[in-house]
Amino acid sequence: MPPLAGPDRIIHADNLDVLPGLPDAAFTLVYLDPPFNSGRVQGRRPTTNVRSATGSVVGFQGQRYERIRGDLVHYDDRFDDYWGFLEPRLAEAWRLLADDGTLYLHLDYREAHYAKVLLDALFGRECFLNEIIWAYDYGGKSKRRWPSKHDTILVYVKDPKRYYFDSTAVDREPYMAPGLVTPEKVELGKLPTDVWWHTIVSPTGKEKTGYPTQKPEGVIRRMIQASSREGDWVLDFFAGSGTTGAVAAALGRRFVLVDENPAAIEVMRGRFGEISGVEFEEAVARG
Ligand SMILES: C[S@@+](CC[C@H](N)C(=O)[O-])C[C@H]1O[C@@H](n2cnc3c(N)ncnc32)[C@H](O)[C@@H]1O
Repeated sequence: MPPLAGPDRIIHADNLDVLPGLPDAAFTLVYLDPPFNSGRVQGRRPTTNVRSATGSVVGFQGQRYERIRGDLVHYDDRFDDYWGFLEPRLAEAWRLLADDGTLYLHLDYREAHYAKVLLDALFGRECFLNEIIWAYDYGGKSKRRWPSKHDTILVYVKDPKRYYFDSTAVDREPYMAPGLVTPEKVELGKLPTDVWWHTIVSPTGKEKTGYPTQKPEGVIRRMIQASSREGDWVLDFFAGSGTTGAVAAALGRRFVLVDENPAAIEVMRGRFGEISGVEFEEAVARG
């Protein structure tokens, strides 16, 4: 298959129908923000549909992976549906990642721990780079437990010896205790850690598209700044309102976005209408 070239692409499709048509190792960064625990709602694909790098969905670590999966399914059978939905797509993400590439998998606290165990088995534990906590403070707060106000982003690299990462390219942030550091450091700001405080998309702000699960550009900007270079290709196959593409375009990266929801495509038509060279493709199997 030839390497990626041509325009930035927005594809209306079930991602599992189009991913096998994209070339191996084409993307430096894959960001995925799947619907939470969607297995039962979205329906489960028979695993025979999957074409992964290895030609199998067993996972890249074979026996060990199967055993871990079996244990987790035994422990909680709801998990089977969710992982049945995600696993073939993550296998494709692995195949599509460049040798120096990075996967950012955005989850909430209900799935993150299962996903961590399985990604360790799928990618290899040595390929785990970070668990990023995106902390926000918005909306109702339970008085019966600690209000849940964070998402978890698991970061895995294709090859721990070769992955691209440039922390100096990332927007810096204010020191929490500026009195403890020099004025020069205060002026420069500090490098972000693995805990990112960032507001949600403001309901009245100009970034808002109206898409219900839209993520803030500021959160995705950090990932793209650190884990890709100008001209690199970025993939998001749960694209929603297209936040990944909007940030990629602003930072001079190339992108492919996929979403199966017509409403998401409509939102992206509005969001990318001003940007020339973006091609919309209709690849949904109808009937
Ligand atoms: C949580 S939203 C992504 C939001 C996005 N990060 C943003 O900033 O707008 C998940 C998206 O995945 C899409 N989706 C779910 N299953 C899909 C599938 N099998 N193929 C393609 N898109 C899918 C949904 O339509 C939804 O737009």
